[in-house]
Amino acid sequence: MAESMMGLKRSHRCTELGTANIGEHVTVMGWVQKSRNKGGIIFVDLRDRSGILQIIFEESDCGAESFEKAEKLRSEFVIAVTGKVEARSGGVNENLATGAIEVRASGLRILSESETPPFPIEENSKTKEELRLKYRFLDLRRPDLQRSMMFRSNIAILTRKFLAEEGFLEIETPTLIKSTPEGARDYLVPSRVHPGSFYALPQSPQLFKQLLMCSGYDRYFQLARCYRDEDLRADRQPEFTQIDMELSFVDVDDVIDVNERLLQRLFKELLDVEIPMPIPRMTWQEAMDRFGSDKPDLRFGMELKDVSFVVRDCEFAVFKNALDQGGSVRGINAKGQGGMARKKIDALVEFAKGFGAKGLAYLAVLEDGSYKSSFAKFMTEEQLHDLTAAMDGKPGDLLLFAADKNKVVWDVLGNLRLELARQQDLLKKDDFKFLWVTQFPLLEYSEEQGRFVAMHHPFTMPMEEDWGKIDEDPGSVRAKAYDIVLNGTELGGGSVRIHQADIQAKMFEVLGFTPEKANEQFGFLLEAFKFGVPPHAGLAYGLDRLAMLMVGADSIRDVIAFPKVKDASCLMTEAPAPVDEKQLQELGIEIAQGEEA
Ligand code: AMO
Ligand code: AMP
Repeated sequence: MAESMMGLKRSHRCTELGTANIGEHVTVMGWVQKSRNKGGIIFVDLRDRSGILQIIFEESDCGAESFEKAEKLRSEFVIAVTGKVEARSGGVNENLATGAIEVRASGLRILSESETPPFPIEENSKTKEELRLKYRFLDLRRPDLQRSMMFRSNIAILTRKFLAEEGFLEIETPTLIKSTPEGARDYLVPSRVHPGSFYALPQSPQLFKQLLMCSGYDRYFQLARCYRDEDLRADRQPEFTQIDMELSFVDVDDVIDVNERLLQRLFKELLDVEIPMPIPRMTWQEAMDRFGSDKPDLRFGMELKDVSFVVRDCEFAVFKNALDQGGSVRGINAKGQGGMARKKIDALVEFAKGFGAKGLAYLAVLEDGSYKSSFAKFMTEEQLHDLTAAMDGKPGDLLLFAADKNKVVWDVLGNLRLELARQQDLLKKDDFKFLWVTQFPLLEYSEEQGRFVAMHHPFTMPMEEDWGKIDEDPGSVRAKAYDIVLNGTELGGGSVRIHQADIQAKMFEVLGFTPEKANEQFGFLLEAFKFGVPPHAGLAYGLDRLAMLMVGADSIRDVIAFPKVKDASCLMTEAPAPVDEKQLQELGIEIAQGEEA
């Protein structure tokens, strides 16, 4: 039968012990990582969240009863061991933090037994993620996940500490709120008391933090749980955590300043990495032109070049048509890749098509100065020469071109650039390259909805110098919005907010809201704006993404204790799940025919 604590107290975690403790009597508790019976002597690797410690059982030290129990130990049994710290008898194990010592047991309690786990509890598990997620409580015992969870905890604690020192208040905002369908899809929660009515889970605390500014809490933060019903990717989860903040009486530079110091502090204290200050800034336009992305990865070059002016008069229909239709021709130079096999180039063309390209034109500059190309026959020698020069092409280089609408060209080349960097292994996880991307467009045209939608959100302040163009050319108005980007990932985003009722009303009009509709959805905010509102601005980080990049994980699932999988389900609890008929009745909900699970 499992024994209990009965007054026994743990004196140390496993790796808190070292040579300084030799001779001490200690009590350690944890899980059996491994147990080896060598006949007369039993070696047990004891594991707790700090690491592993070797325990030695010999009958002459621990007595017959404990020795008998030790013989029964299997992996993942939970035990308490009392004993004496000694220098390791079998020589130092350099791979273990506690490799220079062991504990010679004088007593043992088996606190609980364990069935054989469905997969070994080990670092760098080779077990399929699906199985590990079904048994996440076991997966979370693995040392790499434990380190990640501890690291994440440290980010949260240090963030709180830093922001408190900077005068921020931690204030919670509700998670049962009104649905505001701008942005991603909402998760809805039916109301029992108001049949037919629904709460939404917040996509972010955006409106509430703005209201807090109206209420005078001039520096707010929260580690806020957010919910978005959108397609999952490696860096997206349906529920995730933001480090969310808002400040009053500030402009862009003030937000950037406090956040640069926060990032500097986190990276210095937790990773001993110095982030050079200030973090570089780039306008959205420059980011798109140079990198084809609003979250450029600055760990490598391979910048995009606009060669429209060079190929304007050539006979290559692909280029001509794109230019005639108001698009552009741009290229990247894959340095030294001129010898790339045809098959590999074809694979790149297919990759490009995955991002909407109709094709990908290439020009390899051979060592003898001649060309191998999919389109050289349509160009004069001089045009080829000019094109190569414009791309800074040298013998041995591979030049890749996309011709289309700007949006497509940027997307194709931006992604191709990343793919080539992956192939050439240019993306080092411990090389941290930060960037502020500023001056985002205020609006983007949604073909799907046939109207302009807010690029960040409808409360983002337009740049004063552009506001005059809001009627004649809404697409050209820039916003006081900024993203913080790290190694090609959007870590966070924010903006200066509109605090003037007239600009906000105009914004809603441009977004296609009637005044009635705007009032119905955001009336409380518009109402608040009537009673004295300070200029304010803020930002939110994805805490999961920050943790992922800091620990060098490939997916945010690796820094979330209980993540969901691609179809937004939890493999362990099997959520979501059907509910009782009675629950549905109480809520006044009927499941449409054919929709039942
Ligand atoms: P935004 O929508 O840009 O801004 O979100 C801020 C940051 O949250 C993270 N994030 C996510 N992380 C994991 N899974 C997701 N599905 C997910 N969606 C977003 C990203 C992103 O940069 N209220 C505004 C912020 C503001 O203006 O202050 C907002 O939510 O890292
Ligand atoms: P095609 O005329 O379709 O045979 O294409 C000739 C070459 O141009 C092939 O290498 C195509 O991959 C390439 N190509 C086709 N469309 C585009 C485009 N929009 N941008 C760049 N290259 C293209």
